[in-house]
This record gives sequence, C-alpha cells and structure tokens, in this order.
Amino acid sequence: MPSKKRQILATCALPYANGSLHLGHMVEHVQADIWVRFQKMQGHECFFICGSDAHGTPIMLSAQKAGINPEDLYNTYHNEHKRDLADFAIDFDNFYTTHSPENKQLAELIYQRLKDNGDIESRVITQAFDPEQNIFLPDRYVKGECPRCGQADQYGDNCEHCGATYSPTDLKNPVSVLSGVAPIQKESQHFFFKLEKYAEQLKEWGRGGHLQTQVANKLAEWFAAGLHPWDISRDEPYFGFEIPGEPGKYFYVWLDAPIGYMASFKNFCDAQSDIDFHDYWDKDSKAELYHFVGKDVMYFHALFWPAMLTGSGFRLPNQVIVHGFLTIDGYKMSKSRGTFIKARDYLEHLDMEYLRYYYAAKLNSHIDDIDLNLEDFQLRVNADLVGKVVNIASRCARFINKKYNNQLADAVSEPALFKTFVDAGNDIASLFDKRELSHAVRDIMALADKANQYIDEKKPWVLAKQDGQADEVQLICSMGLNLFRLLIIYLKPILPHLAAQVETFLNIPPLDWASRKQALTNHTINTFTPLMQRIDSNKVLAMKETASHAQTSAADNDAQLGAC
Ligand code: MSP
Ligand code: ZN
Repeated sequence: MPSKKRQILATCALPYANGSLHLGHMVEHVQADIWVRFQKMQGHECFFICGSDAHGTPIMLSAQKAGINPEDLYNTYHNEHKRDLADFAIDFDNFYTTHSPENKQLAELIYQRLKDNGDIESRVITQAFDPEQNIFLPDRYVKGECPRCGQADQYGDNCEHCGATYSPTDLKNPVSVLSGVAPIQKESQHFFFKLEKYAEQLKEWGRGGHLQTQVANKLAEWFAAGLHPWDISRDEPYFGFEIPGEPGKYFYVWLDAPIGYMASFKNFCDAQSDIDFHDYWDKDSKAELYHFVGKDVMYFHALFWPAMLTGSGFRLPNQVIVHGFLTIDGYKMSKSRGTFIKARDYLEHLDMEYLRYYYAAKLNSHIDDIDLNLEDFQLRVNADLVGKVVNIASRCARFINKKYNNQLADAVSEPALFKTFVDAGNDIASLFDKRELSHAVRDIMALADKANQYIDEKKPWVLAKQDGQADEVQLICSMGLNLFRLLIIYLKPILPHLAAQVETFLNIPPLDWASRKQALTNHTINTFTPLMQRIDSNKVLAMKETASHAQTSAADNDAQLGAC
C-alpha cells in the first residue's frame, strides 16, 4: 500500500456532440479509464471527468439542416455518447456538457481575468463571407481550385492533391460549401488572446516533465516558429457563449471547450458535500491534474490551455497525456473501406472487454498510432484471455467444486511461486502508473504462462485418479486458483467485468492492489461458470458488415469540421 494517498483528477477530451463515437474515440477512453481504475485500486482518490463539447459552427449547421435546435441535437448525441461509454465500462464520475451555466460562468471569469491582464486585443480582420447564408465561413467551408496545381474541389486551407497549403483567399473560383455561391470578403472585429506574452512561462513549463518527449519536441518547433495572438472570437450566428459586453461576438469553441473540464468538475463537486473545486483548480493546489488527449488536439492542450490557465491564475496540468490515432487493419478509419466502426456497431456484436484488452496490449506511453488488426485481435484475445487466463480457473475449479465441496486448502503449497506472483505486482503497478500498458500486459501474460506450467507439471487430473492423493489435488488446485486470483487483480483495471465475475466466483470482496499479498486459504468458493467466450470470427465479420453498411452520416465531415 502506498504511504501517501494521492488526490487525482483525470480527464478525457470532450467529444463533439455532433456525431457518434467510434473505435478511435474509444482508444482514449479505454486508456484513461484503465489508468483511473488502477489509481483507485491503489487506494488513491481519483476523479474522472468528461462531457460533451457542444459548441461551434458544425453543430449549429447540422441542427439547422435537421430543422432542430442545436440544444436538441447535442442532447441526442450527449445521451448516445453516455450510453456508449457506459457500455464500454468507462467509469466517469461526471459526464457533463460545455453548454452549461457552470461553463459559461467560468469562461466569462477566465476571459475577464485575461482582459484585466491586458492579454486580449481586438483587431479587424477580413474573412470569407457567404452572402446568401449571411455567415462568415471557416476555412473548411470554402472550396475551390488549388492555386498551385489547379485541382478542383479543394478546401480553403490545403490541397489534398498536391499538398500545397495556402489561405482561402488564394483559392481560384472559390465557393461556399453551404450555398455554392462565391464568397465575398468582409471585415469584422475579432478578439485575440496574446499567447506570445506567455512564451517564456510556457517554455519553462514544457521543460518541466509535463509532456512526453515527442510532444515537448513539437512544442519546441512551435516556439521556434513564433507564437501569435490567438483568435478567440467568432461572429454570430454561432452556437456558443456570447462574449460579455460584445454583442454579436461569441467565444470560439476552443476557448470554452477545455474550460469544460473545470465546469464538469464543478458540477460534480456541487453535487457532493465533501469535494472542494478549489482544492483541485486553485494555483496552490496539491491535487494532480491529468488530461488524456489525442495528438490532433495537443496544440490546444500543450499551448493555449496552459497559457489560459496561467493568465487566469489557475493551476496547470501535471501532465498532458497524448496518444496516437487508431487505424483499422492498417488504414485510417474510412466509411468506404468499412473500417469506420462506431462504438455501437462494435457493442452489437462483441464483448467490450475484448477491445479493452486489445487496446491495452497495444498502448504505451508514446504518441504513435495504434492499429486494430481484426485478425490479430481475435487471435490475441482468444489465446491470452480465454486460452491462458480463464483456462487456469476452469482447470482448477472443477476439482474444488466437485470433490472438495467448494473448499480451498488451508495452506499455500508453493509459497515461493506465490511470492513471485505477488512481487511482480510492484513492477506491474509501476508500468500501469507510467501507462506502459503493453509492457504490463506482457508481464501479466508471462505470469499466466507460469501458472499454466505449474498446473501442467502437477497434473491434478492424473493424481485425482490415484488413491491417497486427495489432499495433494486440493492443494494444487487451490494454488492454481490463488495464482489466478493474482492475475485477475493485475487485469482488473483493464477487465473490470471479468474481475467482478471472478469476485463472485471466488466469493470475495472487490479486489484491490494491496489485497494480493493475502492468499485465499480455508475459504469457500462458488460454483465456476464460464467466464469468457472465444471470439467467433463470424461476429467480427458481422461487425464489419454493419460498419460498411452504415449510412453515411455527418460524422465524417463533422470530424474534420469539428473545430470551426
Ligand atoms: N471536442 C474536441 C476536444 C475538446 S477537449 C477540450 C475534439 N473532439 S473529437 O470528438 O473530435 O475528439 C475527441 C478525442 O478523440 C480527441 O482527443 C481525439 O484526438 C480523439 N480521437 C478522435 N478520433 C480518433 C482516432 N481515430 N484515434 C484516436 N483518437 C481519436 O477533438
Ligand atoms: Zn494542389
């Protein structure tokens, strides 16, 4: 048991509430959930916070198209996301929304503090405007011919054909994606956060071990390129919070989105009597703060967000934990290839713990992409979980259930082997803490091999047929179940449902890390029931079918247009 109880707050990026969650989103949620469950098993206080990112142009336009309010649209997705996450056993303490009174109040407070510091400047800028829809057009809403190679139908910021990057005003024959008419150039006053004022503080923070090496290197590149004022305002019509004192101007979605972490936590604290928001967010906070995010949003989390926090007098994150992107069978998720798999498509066919395990087996502390190879997924889960882990219990339990009236032996027959398993828990714990999950899984599976080897050598099924070996068989099978119990402790952050089933089967209270030291002796267990089925390849095929037949929804585009 660690000597000091830590106070930890962990977050996942707030998914845009304008499309369904897919298996890419689940990488982050599974990674963070495993880490949080592990911390809780250590006896630490660890809160896990998330919510919907409700604001921005895409959600407003999708709602318009559907003829509903943006509130109704984001609520529908908010509820869908909540269900999907719960069904993947992602155990948030609060899943709230950025469109909330708490978030409005905090966004206004932070803005006001930045303004008081002189961190906000205003400037008139010229932007593409759709004269038919009466709306300013974010870069991604303007298409035209590439100024370099002439390729038609290219977005306003880069050419997918030749790779050129440019500004939307350079596009030839530009049209608004919304109406098809040529945009006009129109002036408007915008508000900017003077990010560059915080360059030195950010540099120092970036060197302080709060970022993975790959992220710190990226940060150094951004510094070298020079920091610029960040445009934090958008013109109406916009779904978001109006900027106080600036009618018709709204906070850009990325201004209030990370503040949503605070707002979700505040909403959680307000519903509890014993947790104080300030203990976690004030400048002198002793609590630890971790943000789990994907590499596409690290710019916001490693640069703008720490600058906003510094400027407004709040604490900074202990770590921004960046992960890579998910590919499926080696490809970027894509609808046409049938590799755009929604969380729900998966859940309809397969047990969520298979995927939690597979992701854990692939994830480490780096930001490289990870691949879900569906064939490897099936082989790996079947071989490791069914073939190695669950197999130990089924081999031993039937003897204890049938021949010994469910009674485990009164001693551990191989104390040295038991100790090896208990001691391994120290290294495995440190791997979980450092988010070296694939390494942890490797170590756990090596222990599972050892446990199986032990049973193979002792051959209780042979001894059971011989006279005078009854005690020996009970000892061997009890030993096997004790080793199994230790494996389940180590796998519990990854496989919480399996662990719960095993707790019932072994007739024991919820397992935590410290409980591994005490063996189960002289103890009555329950009847063994199969704990996990093999993955049937037909189910994987059926899931792929569902995914490739899924109607193209707005989700693909929304993913690209998310930050408008
Ligand atoms: N709303 C913003 C985050 C605001 S946080 C203050 C957003 N939303 S998102 O729905 O597009 O993405 C949510 C998270 O999922 C991000 O961390 C993103 O990196 C991650 N992923 C989205 N697609 C992914 C993959 N294909 N693979 C792995 N992670 C992915 O960004
Ligand atoms: Zn081009």
